[in-house]
Amino acid sequence: MPREIGNLPYLARLAFATNNLVGVAPVTIFNMSALKEISLLNNSLSGSLPSRIDLSLPNVETLNLGINSFSGTIPSSITNASKLSDLELGVNLFSGFIPNTFVNMADNYLTSSTPELSFLSSLANCKKLKVLILTGNPLDGILPKSIGNLSLSLETILMANCSISGNIPQVVGNLGNLLVLELGGNNLTGPIPITFSQLQTLQALGLTRNKLAGPITDELCHLARLHSLVLQGNKFSGSIPSCLGDIPITIGGLKNLQQMFLEYNRLEGSIPESFGDLSSLEVLDLSKNKISGAIPASLQKLLYLKHLNLSFNKLEGEIPRGGPFANLTAKSFMGNELL
Ligand SMILES: *[C@@H]1O[C@H](CO)[C@@H](O)[C@H](O)[C@H]1NC(C)=O
Ligand SMILES: *[C@@H]1O[C@H](CO)[C@@H](O)[C@H](O)[C@H]1NC(C)=O
Ligand SMILES: *[C@@H]1O[C@H](CO)[C@@H](O)[C@H](O)[C@H]1NC(C)=O
Ligand SMILES: *[C@@H]1O[C@H](CO)[C@@H](O)[C@H](O)[C@H]1NC(C)=O
Ligand SMILES: *[C@@H]1O[C@H](CO)[C@@H](O)[C@H](O)[C@H]1NC(C)=O
Ligand SMILES: *[C@@H]1O[C@H](CO)[C@@H](O)[C@H](O)[C@H]1NC(C)=O
Ligand SMILES: *[C@@H]1O[C@H](CO)[C@@H](O)[C@H](O)[C@H]1NC(C)=O
Ligand SMILES: *[C@@H]1O[C@H](CO)[C@@H](O)[C@H](O)[C@H]1NC(C)=O
Repeated sequence: MPREIGNLPYLARLAFATNNLVGVAPVTIFNMSALKEISLLNNSLSGSLPSRIDLSLPNVETLNLGINSFSGTIPSSITNASKLSDLELGVNLFSGFIPNTFVNMADNYLTSSTPELSFLSSLANCKKLKVLILTGNPLDGILPKSIGNLSLSLETILMANCSISGNIPQVVGNLGNLLVLELGGNNLTGPIPITFSQLQTLQALGLTRNKLAGPITDELCHLARLHSLVLQGNKFSGSIPSCLGDIPITIGGLKNLQQMFLEYNRLEGSIPESFGDLSSLEVLDLSKNKISGAIPASLQKLLYLKHLNLSFNKLEGEIPRGGPFANLTAKSFMGNELL
């Protein structure tokens, strides 16, 4: 990209996403006062951001540098860029502290200046914040109570693989408009908060590969919009709540649920008969638990079921043959001695 591109004083839009541009992006592109949009997503560009980006790009609304090799710190002056509404910096080599702003910053080397992830408190000022993506940064902290003060406009939180430990605070239940909550691959402990029953719009809950424990309680049964429930690789125990399959007349139950991942836990008891009512279910993985009893015949009603894994449990009796079972192989049922 030639330096001279910076000599276009009226240019409003610079969009070079998904090309094969390589090398250091000329600093002049971050110094064009008319620019409203810079999109360099998915190239191989490097370089760093100017320290007073608020002054050098006074009109920028969209700054998308995702999937490149930009490095250095994210200038704190970015919080002064008053017109900026879409900032994507994910999958780069940025390092240092997270400025108090709202962005997609996944897959960098960002850390928090405090173990309580204090930048989350300042995000409470972002009243229009919809999406918070921090996946793959070594934040190395706990989720503070202030997370419950984030804007009600928040719809998506992606914080997988962020080295977060401690309990999930009850106040997460305050975020009543969440659609997606992804906290997989951390070191979270303790139970699923009872307040999760307030997340009435939630469509996807991902808590895979943590150290969460305790029973899977009825709270999850009230999430009528849930499509995807991924709890595998924790220490959940007790029985599988039969309400996960119930369709209570008033609340609609989980009839939208398409994927349920509960493998690698410590669940006991039998598979509830009511699972046959999860009519949208496409994937059900209960492998590597301690589930006993027979496979309920009601599962033959699950016409969309493509992937079933009941391996390595204590199931017994006959495998049903109807419906989706016609296409399943022994790989779905291994390691159940009495089956
Ligand atoms: C990035 O570009 C490559 C081709 O250069 C393409 O295959 C890939 O899908 C793109 N990824 C995104 C996220 O746009
Ligand atoms: C940015 O633009 C201003 C005004 O055009 C100019 O004086 C300054 O030297 C430029 N800075 C850089 C780093 O190019
Ligand atoms: C924001 O802008 C004001 C006024 O130019 C300046 O004093 C302040 O230092 C800026 N903040 C940051 C974090 O750069
Ligand atoms: C959350 O906001 C409330 C009301 O603004 C305030 O009283 C409380 O201190 C905040 N809590 C945290 C943990 O920041
Ligand atoms: C988290 O890390 C695991 C293991 O490295 C990886 O398989 C998974 O894709 C990561 N998740 C996300 C959302 O990046
Ligand atoms: C979880 O904590 C243990 C012990 O502190 C540490 O070794 C491990 O890397 C952590 N795992 C994750 C995913 O953060
Ligand atoms: C079994 O697989 C065949 C071929 O993919 C498909 O046509 C059929 O609908 C499947 N049957 C069931 C019950 O899923
Ligand atoms: C079921 O899970 C077991 C254990 O994780 C695995 O070995 C097996 O391949 C899985 N079966 C299917 C059909 O995916």
